[in-house]
Amino acid sequence: MTHFSTIYKLSLVAVLSLVQVCHSSCPVMECWYMPVKAQVNSLLFIKTDEQQHEPRAANAPSDVDHVFFITDPSASLCHRALNPPEGSIKKPHCELNQIQPQPSSLLWVAPLTDSAQSPLYLEAQWFAATIHGLDKEMSVTTVIRAPEAGDRHNVILSVTTKTVSVMARLGEPALLDCSFWVDPSSPFHGAGFSVEWRYQFRGNGRMVLGYDGKTDRLSNIGDKSATLDFESLHRNGNASLILTETKVKQSGTYICSVHMPYLLAQVALELEVVEPPSVSIFPSPLPLIVSGQSLALHCEATGFAPLPLDFSWVLTDSEGNVRPLGSGSVSGHREGNDATFSQTSRLKLDSAALEQGKGGELSCVAATLGGTRRTSVALNVIGFSTPSIEDSMAMVGVALVLYGLIKFVSWTFSGSGDDDTDEKKKN
Ligand SMILES: *[C@@H]1O[C@H](CO)[C@@H](O)[C@H](O)[C@H]1NC(C)=O
Repeated sequence: MTHFSTIYKLSLVAVLSLVQVCHSSCPVMECWYMPVKAQVNSLLFIKTDEQQHEPRAANAPSDVDHVFFITDPSASLCHRALNPPEGSIKKPHCELNQIQPQPSSLLWVAPLTDSAQSPLYLEAQWFAATIHGLDKEMSVTTVIRAPEAGDRHNVILSVTTKTVSVMARLGEPALLDCSFWVDPSSPFHGAGFSVEWRYQFRGNGRMVLGYDGKTDRLSNIGDKSATLDFESLHRNGNASLILTETKVKQSGTYICSVHMPYLLAQVALELEVVEPPSVSIFPSPLPLIVSGQSLALHCEATGFAPLPLDFSWVLTDSEGNVRPLGSGSVSGHREGNDATFSQTSRLKLDSAALEQGKGGELSCVAATLGGTRRTSVALNVIGFSTPSIEDSMAMVGVALVLYGLIKFVSWTFSGSGDDDTDEKKKN
């Protein structure tokens, strides 16, 4: 017992220290830097505290043109998605640009800079870094300030999303994560902010909603089902967009922009609204198939999103052997009122190719991004592919008996018919 608890404690300590290491390690990040129309390699040394930067200790590789020592007290840049294990091939994508702070051109954001006086604080070098983490786990855009003389670079504003790619079931709510952080020592802290959500799909953009945090006013609501958690927004900088009931038409790119006086940072997210298909086979149940006959079937997949959909037909015989029958001939898709799709596959089932006398189960499988659905019908094949001698003899026998029967019946009827007419004549 005591051994067990010691081991348990030790492993707990190990896990805790590991967690701590993970938390406290900020990356040295490769980054494309674009000073003037050219792309050069740069290396960003990131720490959460200015004191942690080892002065000039970092001996940068020869192919690095610029080195930046960046202090990010929010630790947004220290997320594990931005800090792959050493030697890993996959790396976060980082771009660094020089920027010029300026008042927003958006009318409803104008109150942020209504004094019309640029503070002295703006007289510095300004950069914006946009970083996409590994496996679409997070994206962050930060605005960085460097006082003219020094090589100290401080993160002033960060906008982060932890849901770079969101999948939501049709009709269910979706949360598009976006949060921002402002350096508390900056004069812009507490000077107001605005949040803007925009939607883009195939080159068309529209406003989803705009919120002016300074006057606490919601404007430009382009999407009635969209809202923010205002309490969490003011308290924690949680600017996440809440969609209460997703529709297929809401699939696309969403851009979360946070405006501070003179500064702007934004991140982009993808929303995919998905719905698995409803699948049915026609005719159902299948008629009995006489061997040698072929049968035309179709499978209908309805109400799914998004395209594409993959059909496959599968035959499972009575012994459980599975035989793929291909995708059939697939129709074009149709679009419903709710923007979901429908599609049909036709299959010509040649029962001569099936095993004699055996049935089984015929399934139609429809696979989409929203899920895979299948439906099955029982298949019964009767008879033989070619009649045997005995069968032929039996058939001739049956035919003869039938012939005789018909003859007999018709003779009987015509006989009684004659009697009828005789009676009429007598009358
Ligand atoms: C942001 O607000 C939404 C809605 O209330 C909530 O679901 C989410 O957990 C919040 N995110 C953070 C990081 O607090």
